[in-house]
Amino acid sequence: MAKEFKRKDGRKPTELRKIVAKVGVIPNADGSAMFAFGDTVAIAAVYGPRLLHPKHMEDPTKCILRVNYDLLPFSVHDRKKPGPSRRSQEISKVTEWALSPVVDLKSFPNTVIDVQIYIIQADAGTRTAGINAASMALAHAGIPMKNLVCSVAVGKLDKNLVVDLTKEEEDFEEGEGSTDFAIARIANTDEFTLLQFDGKVQPELINDLISLSDNACKEIYEAQKKALKEIIK
Ligand code: CDP
Repeated sequence: MAKEFKRKDGRKPTELRKIVAKVGVIPNADGSAMFAFGDTVAIAAVYGPRLLHPKHMEDPTKCILRVNYDLLPFSVHDRKKPGPSRRSQEISKVTEWALSPVVDLKSFPNTVIDVQIYIIQADAGTRTAGINAASMALAHAGIPMKNLVCSVAVGKLDKNLVVDLTKEEEDFEEGEGSTDFAIARIANTDEFTLLQFDGKVQPELINDLISLSDNACKEIYEAQKKALKEIIK
């Protein structure tokens, strides 16, 4: 039998980094949560639904979900310049799209729900940790949702398919190089709300890569549920 590929940090290909999930971390927010994959730590705060200003931005048919994602300056090795960037705007947008399908936006016309996601420590996979934290924070805020959203990055290190890549793995250049594929899906379903691919892969491996998110998302969902249940004791 072929020897199983071991990653530099000792993990098996399908093994996630240690998950830490907690809700209620920001008392002044309507809902809040933190979600960590190893050294990647995201916090999310939810405010609303509340009236939207300026009024011309209101949508009389539904609530607007407005996400702001950012890396804090001290979250990365080279200090990150504060303020929005093309990267943070793109991640804010894809996070909005990843979460919107589960939120009952039609029940709150003319309002906005603000979701603030900050990465306090980054070691790759920040958009996925941010989506997991935001999904929990929305539930913690009591906003009607049809389900939680679970997110993980999968990828390829040379020829090996792996889940939850670190920054070092994302930067891996040897052999066939690395591939980073951020996935979000509605918990316990085959409905995907984010498929964001970076790198190169043979088309015939795409389905295998996507399948790696099955068990990973189950594990993430259990951690999210456990954290939410802890506050309704
Ligand atoms: O974080 P994620 O994998 O979702 O997005 P990315 O744009 O692929 O970034 C990968 C990683 O690069 C981040 O998680 C950070 O560890 C690092 N990074 C950084 O060091 N400085 C930046 N300005 C942006 C990203």
